[in-house]
Amino acid sequence: MPSDHSRSPSIVVLISGSGSNLQAIIDGIEANAIPATISAVISNKSNVKGLARATAHGIPSHVLDHTQHTDREHYDLALQALIDEYSPDLVILAGFMRILTSSFVEHYAGKMLNIHPSLLPKFKGLHTHQRAIEANEAEHGCSVHFVTPELDGGPIIGQRKVTISEHETEDSLASKVQKEEHFLYPLCTRLFVEGRLSLTDTGPCLDGTPITEGGLDLTDMDDL
Ligand code: GRF
Repeated sequence: MPSDHSRSPSIVVLISGSGSNLQAIIDGIEANAIPATISAVISNKSNVKGLARATAHGIPSHVLDHTQHTDREHYDLALQALIDEYSPDLVILAGFMRILTSSFVEHYAGKMLNIHPSLLPKFKGLHTHQRAIEANEAEHGCSVHFVTPELDGGPIIGQRKVTISEHETEDSLASKVQKEEHFLYPLCTRLFVEGRLSLTDTGPCLDGTPITEGGLDLTDMDDL
């Protein structure tokens, strides 16, 4: 991936909460499955579990509190400056609960990923599990996509599906989907840092081959 082969690809992870996806990626790195380093974790909220996870693994962390900035543009400029101190090859949004300005997103075009708890393009936005149950969907799941200015609308890289059972609750479905997230996000991270994923003018590619709209169905992969 980077032309400087002496340095492993650098990742900055943005969080707002529990950081269970951050943990899954840390675990993948520590198991030598993902050839990368997390250079920093940045949260817009203090005292969240994800910050403790970073500290426990010796990863530098920062709180950049959005309430201390006058508006979204100023916040995103400060966030961009902080991220760029680490010169990351990849920026990972892992439960970062902020709408981002277009100029911020464009600054990281082709090198910023997000995970969303639905089979995009279905159920963009919040409360995806409840909405999937109410819509009588047979299947639900999670998607990893490149980030573009359209909220949850960027080109999809991959998805993992779960079946919605008869007596499914929002909580039971959320935990089924999170289990899949914890495989999908490390996998897509690995593919990116290995230089196998790219975003071209015509869409996302894996190993130079275009990924079809809707992304790769990675449900049956069981080996990171
Ligand atoms: C995940 O469900 C992810 O899909 C969504 O935010 C949640 C973050 O969870 N974008 P965690 O902080 O990684 O535990």
